[in-house]
Amino acid sequence: DSSRPVQQEAKSEAAKKVKIGVYFATWWALNVVFNIYNKKVLNAYPYPWLTSTLSLACGSLMMLISWATRIAEAPKTDFEFWKTLFPVAVAHTIGHVAATVSMSKVAVSFTHIIKSSEPAFSVLVSRFLLGESFPVPVYLSLIPIIGGCALAAVTELNFNMIGFMGAMISNLAFVFRNIFSKKGMKGKSVSGMNYYACLSLLSLLILTPFAIAVEGPQMWVAGWQTTMSQIGRQFIWWMAAQSVFYHLYNQVSYMSLDEISPLTFSIGNTMKRVSVIVSSIIIFHTPVQPINALGAAIAILGTFLYSQSKQ
Ligand code: 3PG
Repeated sequence: DSSRPVQQEAKSEAAKKVKIGVYFATWWALNVVFNIYNKKVLNAYPYPWLTSTLSLACGSLMMLISWATRIAEAPKTDFEFWKTLFPVAVAHTIGHVAATVSMSKVAVSFTHIIKSSEPAFSVLVSRFLLGESFPVPVYLSLIPIIGGCALAAVTELNFNMIGFMGAMISNLAFVFRNIFSKKGMKGKSVSGMNYYACLSLLSLLILTPFAIAVEGPQMWVAGWQTTMSQIGRQFIWWMAAQSVFYHLYNQVSYMSLDEISPLTFSIGNTMKRVSVIVSSIIIFHTPVQPINALGAAIAILGTFLYSQSKQ
């Protein structure tokens, strides 16, 4: 029966789509939980350099334990692997700490509205630094993305320059991280899950000295005592939740990056922000003006147009 291979192919195509759908849904759900606990922690304990270091430390520890107990198979890596991972880890560290600093200064929704313009950064970096060119509709889609973000920024009630710049720096850093990651993962035997684990370990090494220099143990201890007296022991659970969920959502996102193109990844990531923006506005009772919401909607619509024109 000559139609069998065709049927089988269609079946495996459908199975792949279901698998990616499950990855995406899990990634978004884990990310929403992370963002809520992360903001609860930052509201009570405003030390973003420490909390971003702890998220990496927690993920690294979880993976080291999984490897030691053989829950997950440890990757076989060589010096070359760590060397190519280094620029990815630098970009991951900068993007992570910059986003966390941003969220310590402004509403979670605002950080994510600005971060929804990541595809625009991707086009600009590819065009001006890598010399790639795109069809005209791609450039046109940047107008609503940038315009929508600008409208959302100028109408933001609690605008803060550090919060805004943190999200912008994070955008730029993550574009480089995604480009380098996909290159680094190509043809390598290291799975998406282990690739992200190694990335966490290396980023932790890079970030720790900077976190100590910028904030440092003295501030952390003093702040800790105040927070514990105000919030009590449940604060430790918030901290644990933000750290564990940070690792899990990133791990799942890298497991999906293993299967999809960086473009599909960045579209999935922007759509993820819609759920984060909506849920954080509800949970934290963030005040939003209609014009502000309009800006966010235009930016997200721009990303959708971008994905359509790039495909
Ligand atoms: C972080 O702390 O790294 C940011 O929350 C990351 O944001 P993103 O993974 O949603 O881009």
